Amino acid sequence: MTDLVQEIQHWKSVRKAVILAHNYTLPEVQDIADFTGDSLELSRKAAQCGAPVIVFCGVRFMAETAKILSPGSLVLHPAPDAGCPMADMAPVEAVRAYRQAHPDTLLVAYVNTTAATKTAVDLCCTSGNAERVIASLPQDQKIMFLPDGDLGANVARALNRPMELWEGYCPTHYRIHPDDLDKARKAHPDAQILVHPECLPAVVEKADKALSTGGMLNYVRESPCQRFVIGTECGILHRMKKENPEKEFYPLEPIPVCPNMKKITLEKVRNCLRDLSCQVELDEETIRQARTPIDKMLAL
Ligand code: 13P
Ligand code: SF4
Repeated sequence: MTDLVQEIQHWKSVRKAVILAHNYTLPEVQDIADFTGDSLELSRKAAQCGAPVIVFCGVRFMAETAKILSPGSLVLHPAPDAGCPMADMAPVEAVRAYRQAHPDTLLVAYVNTTAATKTAVDLCCTSGNAERVIASLPQDQKIMFLPDGDLGANVARALNRPMELWEGYCPTHYRIHPDDLDKARKAHPDAQILVHPECLPAVVEKADKALSTGGMLNYVRESPCQRFVIGTECGILHRMKKENPEKEFYPLEPIPVCPNMKKITLEKVRNCLRDLSCQVELDEETIRQARTPIDKMLAL
């Protein structure tokens, strides 16, 4: 164990902290976490854990979601500048303006939205439950899906259900091109290609499966297939290889990287635990209003 990891363990026990990490974070960060998962799994963990201190290793909206679901905990986000560009594509003012102009439309927000934007929507979903959430709504209900137009388009197609789509996208997944999948098929003909549903519909169409990061981890564990090409942020390969040492995993090339997820380092985790710095602060009213659409999602 390195000195830095020992220091983290020391401060973690002093602070009685729980460390949650997203599947895209750096391998060494995943290794010191108490729990690693996708957005839905991490939301559920944050809601249940009740720890006095939660260190959230992921991007900003995820740490905010942890604070909304566990307002009594001190939630620390080790890299406050680690945002999600897609979440910033649906600012609360624009969402409010849309709502005012379309009073009969239900606003469904991907959890990749700021806490402020969550105060202006009806219901949340993650990539792990988006189809289930949309399928639970009456067939004639008008829906605006935000901010991820690609996830929205993939869900709309899978359910054969039209929706209005916000013009947001993930800059990391958007770069994946259908040709990249053709090349991967040629290079690894006996592998299954898994992609994230944030990818373009033309990419999802060429893949064997489109799954959330948690869904991918479950799928590769249970599948009899031995080889997989992984079309999502490369951080997930660490857990995949660790949990399935007998199987082979290849990243889709060019390798997708989310620069914001990589801003969470061990040094920053140690610093925030030691100094109780980088606290996520949200006012009570924002927490109250943003919680409603998340609770509705978790209850489904
Ligand atoms: P998951 O919920 O599938 O982990 O996705 C979160 C995310 O930000 C993907 O880019
Ligand atoms: Fe946001 Fe894309 Fe990074 Fe996920 S991978 S956190 S959607 S920028």
